[in-house]
Amino acid sequence: MIRNICCIGAGYVGGPTMAVIASNCPNININVVDINSERISKWNSKDSNKLPVYEPGLAEIIKKCRGVNLHFCSDIGKAISEADMVFISVNTPTKKKGIGAGQASDLRWIESSARSISKYAEGETIIVEKSTLPVKTAETIKNILYSSLGENNTCKFNILSNPEFLAEGSAIHDLQHPDRVLIGGDNEEAIEKLSEIYLNWVPSNKIIKTNLWSSELSKLVANAFLAQRVSSINSITALCEETGANIKEVCNAIETDSRIGNKFLKPGPGFGGSCFKKDILNLIYLSNFYGLEKVAEYWEQVLNINEWQNKRIPEIITKNLFGTLAGKNISILGFAFKSNTNDTRESPAIGICKKLLEESCNLKIYDPKVNEDQIKLDLLSKQSSDIADKDYGTFERVNSIDESVINSDAIIILTEWSEFRDLNFSELIKIMRKPSWIFDSRGIINKTEAISSGFNVWEIGVGVDI
Ligand code: UDX
Ligand code: UDX
Repeated sequence: MIRNICCIGAGYVGGPTMAVIASNCPNININVVDINSERISKWNSKDSNKLPVYEPGLAEIIKKCRGVNLHFCSDIGKAISEADMVFISVNTPTKKKGIGAGQASDLRWIESSARSISKYAEGETIIVEKSTLPVKTAETIKNILYSSLGENNTCKFNILSNPEFLAEGSAIHDLQHPDRVLIGGDNEEAIEKLSEIYLNWVPSNKIIKTNLWSSELSKLVANAFLAQRVSSINSITALCEETGANIKEVCNAIETDSRIGNKFLKPGPGFGGSCFKKDILNLIYLSNFYGLEKVAEYWEQVLNINEWQNKRIPEIITKNLFGTLAGKNISILGFAFKSNTNDTRESPAIGICKKLLEESCNLKIYDPKVNEDQIKLDLLSKQSSDIADKDYGTFERVNSIDESVINSDAIIILTEWSEFRDLNFSELIKIMRKPSWIFDSRGIINKTEAISSGFNVWEIGVGVDI
């Protein structure tokens, strides 16, 4: 029976996952550790608005469990030595240089986590891979664990793969009511111990047990399939705009086929988030590594369409605003990669805003959860020569929809936050410059109301209505 868990990595995955385990398993003591001590102090903040991750329902669980059986701390050695089970939840970004640059995952944090485990673990420890990893990483972890042990050390390790399937913005719900829990491994006893934890709140028929490699690969494949649906529907948006078909009508028509279903068919400015692109790149790298070029090419197309969709939107905006944005004011509503999160990793808003800035306009960006520092970090990570360019536009983060819209020529909706669904068009148009445009890249506004208030509207997968 597991009594003590350590989780390395207090990020978007580690934090919420451990919170839900703590809340369902009062008899298990959990220490979440992170090399970033600032992040740990944010997790320990009394003010729930200061938690480093925003997820609906998370603050309530933290309040209930923190200091009881859930602890956020920086003493990695102590947390590992006390643990019967260690979750690895550190980030695994795509490699920026060296072999596999641009495709393979950078495993340096996984390696350093394995070295810490090997240094501090006592007795028998189960290691659980939570981070999404290239297939066969468990083997690497095993090698590191045993090769860095001292000769007389009798520690024993069992490695399991237990990928997370939570989506940001609904992480707590997804963890609490998972479609399935996947556990891959070759040691029955270790698999049972992890499975027992989940059985505290997950029905047994939802726990799938596989070998290690199937589990690692399934995670990549699940994300690749989801991303592929988004790219598929996004490719059709352009065709709809050209032909006069309406993407919503097309979606309605196809999703009634129970074999297709209605999930992941929402058109948008392209998928973002820390996982989809990275996992597909991993799949491409893996396919090429095994000489399967055609497979690699197939998945590359999913990324190509995503990039193409992202570039299409600023081009459409510029074209409709008489081909020039110089000196124009643009209101950006939404910067997170999806609603209900403060995460901007790979957000489609980044590419779109940068392209608009290259057209020398002034952006006023409003997102309910993304702060100014993050927006600066994302938009200023450009070639320095471009930033220095005096024609590069300006941007600022504002605190409300009205502040963003005042004196603007156009409103661009980039994230589907619920507060952008029922904008008060008849009031907003009074404070805008004329002609007033709205570009809805998520297809969420009440278009009839916008048009009757005097807006020119462009909607994804429909086109322009004036
Ligand atoms: C990460 C991966 O990006 C994803 O692929 C995987 O599925 C789960 O883990 P996420 O939790 O969203 O996702 O990443 P992030 O929010 O960046 O959190 C990782 C944390 O690990 C950071 O707080 C970082 O400081 C910490 N970390 C990293 C360590 O504690 N030790 C390390 O050696 C490296
Ligand atoms: C994803 C997976 O859903 C999750 O199972 C995995 O563990 C991590 O990666 P996440 O990236 O947090 O989760 O969010 P998700 O809801 O999948 O959205 C990803 C991107 O696709 C977002 O940018 C979203 O806006 C976009 N998307 C999603 C669409 O454009 N249309 C859709 O219909 C669905």
